[in-house]
Amino acid sequence: MLMKIDSRFIKQVRKEFPGAEIDPYGRERAFLDNGAGTLVAIRSAQREAIARIDWSANVGNIFIESKGAEDTILEGRQAVADLLNAESPDTIISGESATSLLFGLSYALGKEFTGRENVVTSGFEHYTNINPWVELGTNGKIKELRFAEFDMNTGELDSKKIESLIDSDTTVVSVTAASNVLGSRTDLKKIAKIARDAGAYFVVDAVHHIAHGPTDVRSIKCDALVFSGYKLFSRHGSFMYMKPDLMEKLSPYKVLPSPKHGPGKWEMGTRDQAMFAAITGAIDYISWIGNPSAKYPPNPGKQRMSRLAKAFKSIEDYEESLSTLALNGRGRLKGLNDIPGLTLFGPKAINPKIGRDPTFSFKLDGKDDRAVSKILWNKYSLAVGAEDYYSRVPALYKADTMLRATFVHYNAEKEVIALLKALNEIASKGKKKR
Ligand SMILES: Cc1ncc(COP(=O)(O)O)c(C=O)c1O
Repeated sequence: MLMKIDSRFIKQVRKEFPGAEIDPYGRERAFLDNGAGTLVAIRSAQREAIARIDWSANVGNIFIESKGAEDTILEGRQAVADLLNAESPDTIISGESATSLLFGLSYALGKEFTGRENVVTSGFEHYTNINPWVELGTNGKIKELRFAEFDMNTGELDSKKIESLIDSDTTVVSVTAASNVLGSRTDLKKIAKIARDAGAYFVVDAVHHIAHGPTDVRSIKCDALVFSGYKLFSRHGSFMYMKPDLMEKLSPYKVLPSPKHGPGKWEMGTRDQAMFAAITGAIDYISWIGNPSAKYPPNPGKQRMSRLAKAFKSIEDYEESLSTLALNGRGRLKGLNDIPGLTLFGPKAINPKIGRDPTFSFKLDGKDDRAVSKILWNKYSLAVGAEDYYSRVPALYKADTMLRATFVHYNAEKEVIALLKALNEIASKGKKKR
């Protein structure tokens, strides 16, 4: 049976996050800056604290603290493998950030290139998936980085645009799973096939999308995929899935005594076992949504994966209802599509085939984004960002910044309504009444 996130269950979900209702000073507010990093689930923080204190030793020794550290790391790799439906825990590499992992991958790929190659990406990337490839160009390892531009009206990317940029020198197609500004999703399976048919590696930046839906590397058929713990109800630190044959084939920068095979070959320096404990806690928390009355934590493997599948179905359904409310409003309350004086960038509806992440970027006519963000916080207790989000997108719309609200599954309907009420009010200020 699917656990629907309804008006009753959402109260239970919100109790899993100390920051869902109030900020650290006890002030009631709505946290809508989830695109920049989600709140941390208690189950993740608790698991991290145990590892931090009990299993602080380095790996590779006989004593209990060292064994505990090794087990914690392996458990974390297994949890991420379950989350991503990866072949095995040995396909999961950890790192400081998605940015550092993608730089590591691009350097290793660059060693294989001749300088004639090109890399194809989308027009709505975070710079994490741009500069690693730009660097290869600067160092003469590739000839060109090509951008498949999205439709500026709909905010969506037609996969044919990717196809049209590919030629016999394309060695990598690397795209984001969803724009961190527009909320538009990429048709990953379609693009993976295009890349495969061209004989190119397919790399996915899943940092923004990871909290919003299932991510299945074997069904996508990607060669590598990155995401970050702090966008998935955990702490900082990131993970990269890599296909086993690619992991073996490439030669990342490494120190001589470090492992010659497996994820250890790719990881720089000593691991932080607490980071692995934290991600295990976050992934187990998500699986709890799939079956809240079952024994916790779930068994790794099949049981956890089945609960995760149910959890993400519930999360997607619930987030879709929040997105519909945000876009279209309700009754007399106008949504982002209809507020006079507000321009919404990105999809105006939920794509029936691939969906939409609940991320909404917008501007209010004649108003400074940072000033609006300040009003939203000071007057309405709404945490909404005003930045460029390290994305290529705002500049394409000739903007330095945009306001952005990202909802996740712990956001309540009342918070979407509060945002719409505030924006309706702010947008109407300074306008003449007819
Ligand atoms: C789509 C996307 N990619 C990459 C990043 C950067 O991730 P990290 O901070 O782990 O390097 C972000 C962060 O906002 C993002 O939204």
